[in-house]
Amino acid sequence: MTRDIKQRKRDHLKLAQDDALKFSISAGFEQWRFIHNALPELDLKEIDTSTTFLGKTLKFPLLISSMSGGTQASYQFNATLAEAAENVGCALGLGSMRTALEDERTRDSFLIAREKAPTAVILANLGIAQIISAQSMSQVAVFCEALRADGLIIHLNSLQEAFQPEGEPDFRGALAVIGRWVREFPLPIIVKEVGQGLSRDVIRRLEEVGVKIVDIAGAGGSNWISIERERLSTDQSILKRTAYEFADWGEPTAEVLAGLTTEMTVIASGGLQHPLDLAKALALGAHLGGLAGPLLKPALAADVNQLVETLLVWKETLKMVMFGTGVATTGDFVGNRKLLKEMA
Ligand SMILES: Cc1cc2nc3c(=O)[nH]c(=O)nc-3n(C[C@H](O)[C@H](O)[C@H](O)COP(=O)(O)O)c2cc1C
Repeated sequence: MTRDIKQRKRDHLKLAQDDALKFSISAGFEQWRFIHNALPELDLKEIDTSTTFLGKTLKFPLLISSMSGGTQASYQFNATLAEAAENVGCALGLGSMRTALEDERTRDSFLIAREKAPTAVILANLGIAQIISAQSMSQVAVFCEALRADGLIIHLNSLQEAFQPEGEPDFRGALAVIGRWVREFPLPIIVKEVGQGLSRDVIRRLEEVGVKIVDIAGAGGSNWISIERERLSTDQSILKRTAYEFADWGEPTAEVLAGLTTEMTVIASGGLQHPLDLAKALALGAHLGGLAGPLLKPALAADVNQLVETLLVWKETLKMVMFGTGVATTGDFVGNRKLLKEMA
């Protein structure tokens, strides 16, 4: 891997922790409140937060969203996330595998995840820009096999590429390429954004080419346009000033979910800040929620205990919401909009 890519990844991890670079708009979950059910007719012991995803059972419907891989620091980072995912029984998405395809020496920083999480759902990840420009499907499949990945995420990040000094903003033919990978790749394909969100129309177009699983990765949390803006130098001042205009660009996650009618499996990441947001995302119709930014600090500190505790608070909150609304299983909870009221 070139020094430039390593430096970029270090910049990303540092800047992604900066709250000043997050959206000033929210993902929109505060628009919704659960209706308390004082007669749940359930014993708390009966509440079952488990779900199935890609043929495996999760103890609760959460995905640790794709973040890192490919540098020495990300070996420990991914080991920490994987240990926590295995412990609490949630799914884990890894960061873009681009570096592992370009430089074999970086592969361990991804493969460590499977070592630390032998039974978890693990998703590999690659950008559509890299797939269009260079990647051979068989090379990606071989790496996914080594990882015993349960699926491959393809991320769409057009504006991140556009504002990145070294970006590859050529997205011509992306939809057709995704359709081909859905048909021919040996594992399930999940398509996601990285924080600007998949609109309802884009989700419909993805469905038309056969995509079965999408992750909205909407606006409200980590913001890759603002992060890339901070990496632009002063002699790129026109692009940098332009990026300020896009500081709140994107589809808020809860807004997309609320307007969605689809048979697809939907993951809601992007701006889930509070544990209640996961429950709201599920009641609005998501099969899983996803978190990246909120887990960054404990993961970088290699603090498995703190990470596990944080994730267990999200799980416990979901269990209490299910009891508080009188719903025993995630099957009856997902998409059950009658449990929510919209605030004026
Ligand atoms: C440090 C960091 C690195 C990320 N790297 C990737 C990546 O390699 N591939 C990807 O699809 N998304 C990546 N993302 C985006 C997340 O997976 C997620 O969709 C997005 O951050 C929105 O979730 P959040 O608001 O909970 O952070 C990254 C996010 C962070 C914070």
